[in-house]
Amino acid sequence: MTAPRSTIWKLEDHTLAKHIILRKYLGAWLPILIRKGTSGLLVDGFAGPGEYIGGEIGSPLIMLNAYQGHRAHSIRQGRVKFFFVERDPHRSAHLRLKIQAHLQSQPLPPTATYEIHTGTFVDAMRDLLRNLACGREHYDAMFVFIDPFGYSHAPMDIICQLMRYPRCEVLITFMYEEIDRFLKRNCQAQSVHYDQLFGTSEWRTIALDCQDARTRQQQLHNLYRQQLLSVAGARYVRSFCMLNKRNKTDYFLFFATRHRLGMKNMKRAMWEVDPTGNFVFSDCTGLAQSFLLQNDSPPILAQMLYERFRGKLVALDDIEEYVIADTPFFKYKSSLKLLEQEGLIEVYGPEGRKKGTYADLAMTILFR
Ligand SMILES: C[S@@+](CC[C@H](N)C(=O)[O-])C[C@H]1O[C@@H](n2cnc3c(N)ncnc32)[C@H](O)[C@@H]1O
Repeated sequence: MTAPRSTIWKLEDHTLAKHIILRKYLGAWLPILIRKGTSGLLVDGFAGPGEYIGGEIGSPLIMLNAYQGHRAHSIRQGRVKFFFVERDPHRSAHLRLKIQAHLQSQPLPPTATYEIHTGTFVDAMRDLLRNLACGREHYDAMFVFIDPFGYSHAPMDIICQLMRYPRCEVLITFMYEEIDRFLKRNCQAQSVHYDQLFGTSEWRTIALDCQDARTRQQQLHNLYRQQLLSVAGARYVRSFCMLNKRNKTDYFLFFATRHRLGMKNMKRAMWEVDPTGNFVFSDCTGLAQSFLLQNDSPPILAQMLYERFRGKLVALDDIEEYVIADTPFFKYKSSLKLLEQEGLIEVYGPEGRKKGTYADLAMTILFR
């Protein structure tokens, strides 16, 4: 997609999917992390003008609505700050008017504030990181949405510094189509940007050696994922692949966190996006790589679990860790039930446990 020049533009279908994921994830994130005595920061680092040509709302208003419309009253007892960053002054001014109009009919409670910053994501994050380091600002939890048009404004170095904060989670649009287009055409001219985007120069080997489009996509995806894991220190990283109208990858939506529950909730949100549309849950790491997720797939996960743990005695906690970290799934109990029905596992549960139930993470399971 070419970046629009006008202040507002038409909402694309794949932006809608991104918005559904954002809304659903925040619905789960807010009550877990914001309650009496805690504080949270929600950053929209590439906020946009706040609305689209058809009147649909943009990500900053989706964030505000997720908070204001949430049924859990406890979230309004904690302190919340919304921080919207937009470089283009026209879009930033448009966003300000939209938010002011919105808040006139639905004011924020005294525990919530917002700031619109006209400037670049990098500068805004450097200021934020400085304030966090010297204690001028403090948050118990941070969620950072990084949604640029291109690939040259969200360096890995900033993501690494943000992820150092223990409760910081990031949702990143990785503009694959553009990255690949310029990589094939003119990667030398863009090399500084690519180095910053990936936080390494390893992309050069892929650009030079890899002529096959599918393999190149997988390798670039995996390099970015690996950087989030090893350099940024995320423990869980997953991506969601958005296809364009020609059935080619437009972008990946990467989510990175240190927390199992955060990843579980993000997977739930990703799964709930209409699976009959052109949205592919991307999993470049395993057996389930190439199917469109249509439903929860207990038999597929059962097979994966059996292959992974065959001959081993494992705690349920380790099984959950594997499912969340290394598979596209987040529900696993129906798969265990299938294995138990087929006599492929033996469960050592708490006294009085009912067959087919797996409630205690400390219980152990023998995969025969
Ligand atoms: C993809 S749009 C954002 C859409 C918005 N997040 C939404 O979902 O409704 C990217 C926005 O980032 C802005 N932008 C471009 N470069 C930027 C930078 N370096 N820092 C902050 N914003 C930037 C653009 O003007 C544009 O409005």
